[in-house]
Amino acid sequence: MKKKRAAILISGGGSNLQAFIDAVEAGSLAMDIPLVVSNRPDAGGLERARAAGIETAVIEHSAFDNRDEFDRALAEYLGRYQPDLIVLAGFMRILGVEFVSRFSGRILNIHPSLLPAYPGLDTHQRVLDAGDRWHGCTVHFVNEQLDGGPPIIQGRVPVLDDDDAATLAARVLEVEHTIYPIAAEHIAEGRLRYRDGEVWLDGEMLSEPIQYRPQVLREHGFAL
Ligand code: GRF
Repeated sequence: MKKKRAAILISGGGSNLQAFIDAVEAGSLAMDIPLVVSNRPDAGGLERARAAGIETAVIEHSAFDNRDEFDRALAEYLGRYQPDLIVLAGFMRILGVEFVSRFSGRILNIHPSLLPAYPGLDTHQRVLDAGDRWHGCTVHFVNEQLDGGPPIIQGRVPVLDDDDAATLAARVLEVEHTIYPIAAEHIAEGRLRYRDGEVWLDGEMLSEPIQYRPQVLREHGFAL
């Protein structure tokens, strides 16, 4: 079976990109990554892509008059690679309706909160300020609402008394690196798909995201 192709978009260090590269190299993610695109020329993730022999491109948003022009240029460039999946991995741009509908059902994002709680920025500090005992991250399909697409899988971490935003972010990031490739694996295997605005796993609609706890994942047949 021809491998699915995932184009990965970054803006920063690319630790989530690295998790994908590692999963492909380990053989647990049967996908090709033909391209990594960054909107920032100084993104550390570009070096990670080059080290893995993956083609890179920089499409700087500041080179365009407006958001739509940037989105259009990005969509044109990506289109040449015929991606089955577009993986937003620390990509800090909001993609407009035209882009999202062009690649509808094929865009994944990981957000550092237990969505629908805390969409938007500064999630770790907001969780601390609210005194929450649990925090985590969510992989979701991207639709036209910011961080609003249907969730696929969530990983949760405890908030510790001595946590600050940095220690909490680091704990969440670890879980991101685990659950993001798992979600992609199940798309690669054709088990997970987006249809009519919902997530479907093995032919059943997911009414709520899979919670990343090893036992629960085993019940759902997710490989660990
Ligand atoms: C991190 O804050 C992560 O929570 C979010 O994007 C940021 C950078 O991730 N998904 P990465 O190291 O560039 O993948």
